[in-house]
Amino acid sequence: MAIGHFVGRIALVTGAGSGIGRATCAALSREGASIVAADRDEKNAKLTIQSLKDNAKNISVEVDVKDSSSVQRMFEEVKKHFQKPPSVIVNSAGITRDSFLLKMEESHFDDVINVNLKGTFLVIQTAAKALIDANMSDGASIVNIASIVGVHGNIGQANYSSSKAGVEALTKTAAKELSKFGIRCNAVVPGFIESPMTESVPEKVKLMVQAQIMLGRFGKPEEVAEVISFLASNRSSYINGASIEVTGGCRL
Ligand SMILES: NC(=O)c1ccc[n+]([C@@H]2O[C@H](COP(=O)([O-])OP(=O)(O)OC[C@H]3O[C@@H](n4cnc5c(N)ncnc54)[C@H](O)[C@@H]3O)[C@@H](O)[C@H]2O)c1
Repeated sequence: MAIGHFVGRIALVTGAGSGIGRATCAALSREGASIVAADRDEKNAKLTIQSLKDNAKNISVEVDVKDSSSVQRMFEEVKKHFQKPPSVIVNSAGITRDSFLLKMEESHFDDVINVNLKGTFLVIQTAAKALIDANMSDGASIVNIASIVGVHGNIGQANYSSSKAGVEALTKTAAKELSKFGIRCNAVVPGFIESPMTESVPEKVKLMVQAQIMLGRFGKPEEVAEVISFLASNRSSYINGASIEVTGGCRL
């Protein structure tokens, strides 16, 4: 039998097909959670589920977080399968569409805001409604993924940095509004993490970034997942509306 902080709990992770989302599924599963691995790329979400041990209690779901009906369908699928809503929600779905501000296409600004910020809002709203309707909100925990570039700004990321600053503000507002139902909402603020999202960063830029990190290296998805797991669990029962940096010490 699994022993851990999430035994008997359902954890829904968006962006679960890759990087930080996939590592989060592994961390929560290790601690006994039933995992809902949700991603726009269902094939990768399935691979995440296959990589977990104790697999019978986990499912993968296809979702496009920027589309409210798709988010709605995802929660209906979870309810059909588990007969209750998830009480751990991790919003890890995210995209980049980098270019200099003077050259940025309007559609690339909209795409990033829609997935990273609106998508996080839609999942929070739908999850909270489902939990309150089921009388299961007390003790629930929502963890959003912001970014250090949302705190300091970053050349080439007018869209992404704005979306992530928005995620932090959304997190604080959600904490204020949902705490009366017993739902906590916090954000992790990663620095530069090795994942498909950062693979395309040119080597020269990677070296420049590393020079600004006290630990002198990019982080690993597992190092972010550990903090997400802590915020999702009752171990962090008095942390609410907070943003926790996981950057290796960033001097940006
Ligand atoms: N990697 C980093 O350095 C870093 C730093 C700070 C914050 N973050 C944030 O952490 C989160 C995870 O990033 P990652 O590094 O694992 O990236 P990743 O690209 O490896 O994974 C992102 C996942 O989100 C999914 N996704 C994209 N759009 C979606 C949509 N509309 N609906 C559902 N799923 C969608 C993708 O299919 C992918 O599986 C993102 O929000 C990202 O912005 C990453």
